[in-house]
Formats: sequence, C-alpha cells, structure tokens
Amino acid sequence: MKSKLIILSLLLSMIYACTPTQGSPDVVAPVWSPKVDQPSELAVIMRAIHQEGIERKASLEKGMLSTANSSLIFNMITAQPTEPHMVGPAFEPHAQGFIYSYSEIASATSVPAQIEAHNNLVKSCVACHMNFCQGPISRIEKLYIH
Ligand code: HEC
Repeated sequence: MKSKLIILSLLLSMIYACTPTQGSPDVVAPVWSPKVDQPSELAVIMRAIHQEGIERKASLEKGMLSTANSSLIFNMITAQPTEPHMVGPAFEPHAQGFIYSYSEIASATSVPAQIEAHNNLVKSCVACHMNFCQGPISRIEKLYIH
C-alpha cells in the first residue's frame, strides 16, 4: 500500500514536471501537488530560473538592463532530479552551455546585447529540455523576446 502511494506520487510529480501544462499562465503559479511530494532539488532551481527569466524579459521589454547573479545555476549539475532518468551523460555539457550563456547576460552592457544574450539563454534551456524534459518547452519558449 505504501509503495503504491510512493509510485503514485512519483508519477504525479513527473506529470507536473515534464508534461505540457496546457493553458497555464505565463507566470509560474503554485500548482496543486500532493503533500507527500516535495519538488526535487533540480525542480526548485528550474522554477527559480524560469521566474527570473520572466522578470528579465519584462525588464528588457521596458528597456531596462537586468542583473543576472543567481548562484543557483551552479548547483544545477549536482542537484537531485525528481527521477534519475531526467539527467544523463549529455546533461552536464548542456548545463555548462547554459552557465556560459548566463554569464553573457551578466556581462552585457546594453539592452540590445542583453536581449540577444537572453534569447541565447532561452535557446540553451530549450536544447536541454529537448533531451531531458519536454513538458515545459512551450512555457519556456514564451521567454523569447521578439
Ligand atoms: C542542463 C539541462 C537543463 C537546462 C539548461 C534547463 N533545464 Fe529546466 N529542467 C531540466 C530537467 C531535467 C527538469 C526536470 C527536473 C525535475 O523534475 O527534477 C527541468 C524542469 C524544468 C521545469 C519544471 C519544474 C517543475 O516545476 O517541476 C521548468 C519550468 C524548467 N525546467 C524551466 C527551465 C528554464 C526556463 C530554463 C532556462 C532558463 C531551463 N529550464 C534550463 C533540465 C534543464
């Protein structure tokens, strides 16, 4: 009985993390999740960088440079995922690419340069997600600044 519950909660958390959430708003709203199921370390980092991306987009669209100084991103490589299969050998190179793109945002000194760096970062989010976690891709693509 207990193991069934664990399997069920794992399934639920996978459904939340890696399947598309149709019609979900742009903002990462708190979504119902069972009490027994805490988001994984990696999912917590993802929610934070997603939120940061939403805020950076809003700021750049107003013509304002934004800071990019999250230290969370460096934990991405070692963070525990919800399920072991969510990361794999190709994960670390993607994470390194992501960290590089992030540093380009931090060093951009003009709004157009930061927009370009921001869009490159979003590309690197999507690239990793194609391999490991397709669900949120449509939400991530909303971060592009056109
Ligand atoms: C190196 C690979 C990689 C990169 C880069 C990456 N992600 Fe993720 N992302 C994942 C994996 C794997 C998961 C599943 C995590 C889990 O459930 O433990 C995930 C989960 C998520 C989730 C769902 C979290 C939840 O609530 O459960 C969102 C949203 C997300 N990522 C957004 C982003 C955004 C936005 C970026 C870029 C700013 C990004 N990701 C970059 C691999 C990556």
